[in-house]
Amino acid sequence: MSLTSGQAVDVLRAAGEPSRMRILALLAHEELAVLELCRVLDQSQPRVSRHLKLLADAGLVERFPDGAWVFYRLVSGGEPRRLTDETLRLIDPADPILLRDISRLQEVRAERSTEAGEYFARNAARWDEIRSLYISETAVEAAILKAAGPGPFKRLVDLGSGTGRMLTLLGPHAELAVGLDLSQQMLNIARAHVADAGLSRCELRHGDIFSTRLPGQSADLVVVHQVLHYLGDPGAAVREAGRLVAEGGRLIIVDFAPHGLEFLREQHQHRRLGFAEAEMERWLHEAGLAKVRAAALPPARRDGLTVKIWTGERVRQTNRSAA
Ligand SMILES: C[S@@+](CC[C@H](N)C(=O)[O-])C[C@H]1O[C@@H](n2cnc3c(N)ncnc32)[C@H](O)[C@@H]1O
Repeated sequence: MSLTSGQAVDVLRAAGEPSRMRILALLAHEELAVLELCRVLDQSQPRVSRHLKLLADAGLVERFPDGAWVFYRLVSGGEPRRLTDETLRLIDPADPILLRDISRLQEVRAERSTEAGEYFARNAARWDEIRSLYISETAVEAAILKAAGPGPFKRLVDLGSGTGRMLTLLGPHAELAVGLDLSQQMLNIARAHVADAGLSRCELRHGDIFSTRLPGQSADLVVVHQVLHYLGDPGAAVREAGRLVAEGGRLIIVDFAPHGLEFLREQHQHRRLGFAEAEMERWLHEAGLAKVRAAALPPARRDGLTVKIWTGERVRQTNRSAA
């Protein structure tokens, strides 16, 4: 829908200030928490929050609270988003101010991934125990098997495979299974687990969920189990996972519903405290998947967490009009 001239002036006014232009350029890379923006911009929280409020009021950015943190991202569509994209496109990629911001953002990201990598390396041997702390694994795994369907699957891809639990659960129904993870320590344990389970057609690869280098539409089952809440850009990971899904194939995402266990950030490197249904559904649709469904598994104990299982399918070309 087009803007009125008054709305256009409001949007341009909001974007037309140096710090706010820098914020838009940063959020074009990934969603960020207020404190991360303060670090990159080297400005106080009240100042950054004021800029963010003006951007949000003008419909240029979206605010979403996550536990005690507040994240911001660019709105996903509409005229204000087009204006942001067009304006950023006009800026010289060698602009020194934006280049300095990007390099600071990379420092923030590098710190994050070093801390997460160290956490997974340190806890690889205990991961199976940690995974079951807040959920009923038996119920979750039964629901995953149900969401996957009976198979058989030609190619299963498990992104962020950790110690290989999803591979040993679903691998027996697949002709070929591929597990991908960034942590060598996790991969080593997964190799032992899949060998113990007698899964001979299972490959474990070192790789990044954001750029898997796996061929597009090559897997009839893709699984992302308890990975997204660690990531800086979960929407981008869903897009990459969706890219791998073959026609008629399915993506299963297992993660938490929004919760308030703030200590999981400090002690277990969680970045997001769960995901809202609308957010995940939007990502799945943006990844080109349809028949999106969500199931919730309530916690098995009072201090537990609700696990959500989202599925999306890549509709076969011939059935697309029926979807
Ligand atoms: C919480 S564990 C879950 C492992 C497994 N899916 C499970 O449920 O047991 C998260 C895994 O994601 C991996 N991971 C984190 N960031 C990643 C990335 N960018 N690319 C690939 N794997 C990643 C970690 O190394 C870790 O093994």
